Amino acid sequence: MTKTAQVELLDDVLSRYEGSQNPRLREITEAAIRHLHAFVEEVGLQRDEWFAGIQFLTATGQKCDDVRQEFILLSDTLGVSTLVEIVTHGGVEGSTENTVLGPFYVPGSPQRARGETMLVDPDEGDRVVIRGTVTDIDGNPIAGATLDCWQNATAGFYAVQQPEGQSAVNLRGIYTTDADGTYEIRTVRPVPYPIPSDGPAGDLLKAHGRGWMRPGHTHIWVRADGYKDLITHVFDAETAYLREDAVFGVRDSLVRRFEPDENGELATTFDVVLDKR
Ligand code: BEZ
Ligand code: FE
Repeated sequence: MTKTAQVELLDDVLSRYEGSQNPRLREITEAAIRHLHAFVEEVGLQRDEWFAGIQFLTATGQKCDDVRQEFILLSDTLGVSTLVEIVTHGGVEGSTENTVLGPFYVPGSPQRARGETMLVDPDEGDRVVIRGTVTDIDGNPIAGATLDCWQNATAGFYAVQQPEGQSAVNLRGIYTTDADGTYEIRTVRPVPYPIPSDGPAGDLLKAHGRGWMRPGHTHIWVRADGYKDLITHVFDAETAYLREDAVFGVRDSLVRRFEPDENGELATTFDVVLDKR
């Protein structure tokens, strides 16, 4: 059977990587080339369309600076970040699911005592409590695990987005589990908010009539010696946009309902199961 010009071209391009000394880089590069060629063929991509794509990617790069990473935002809104999380985590059955990190994590949050609120500034939102136990896959409590938390204020913004409008440590804090693996966080109910939509990633969402809202959530990055880091969220069951998260971060297993506890506080339980390293 004679090869088509497309197949001959692809074979020729791939053959140039035969001498590669880096097997993993070769595997990734070759797969990317195969998929890109298949994509061009599938949609019958025209020259002006390819150029528009190159201009889009150029604008995406130009939007990036020290605090803005438009390529990550694009990857988030295409579901690629979440796919990479799923593939990377490969969590053992029964361990807590992870989700996207997002752009608003700031290292160096203050250590908070058990039960202390991470709300520093005035805020009209509902006060809520998140409590739970960090264990290994067999249910053994993990003492000294840290839960590095961050979320937005009722006005919709993270402290890092409003250096003039919020204290730098507002709604940020690192909690540590007790000897029995338990922890307790006080905060406000997180609210839905828009991801940055003033760049090419936002333009693409708008071009397709997609939204750019995320449902209300609290981010938690759990670390413990000997265990894999877990980057996850607790989603409020009553928040809007749970089914239309712009970045596909919602996992059903991470959704929790806040209900009055025996002290009348709005509380929920979020137990965390970590995988061994
Ligand atoms: C966030 O949850 O903070 C976030 C995640 C992805 C894109 C934008 C924001
Ligand atoms: Fe967030």
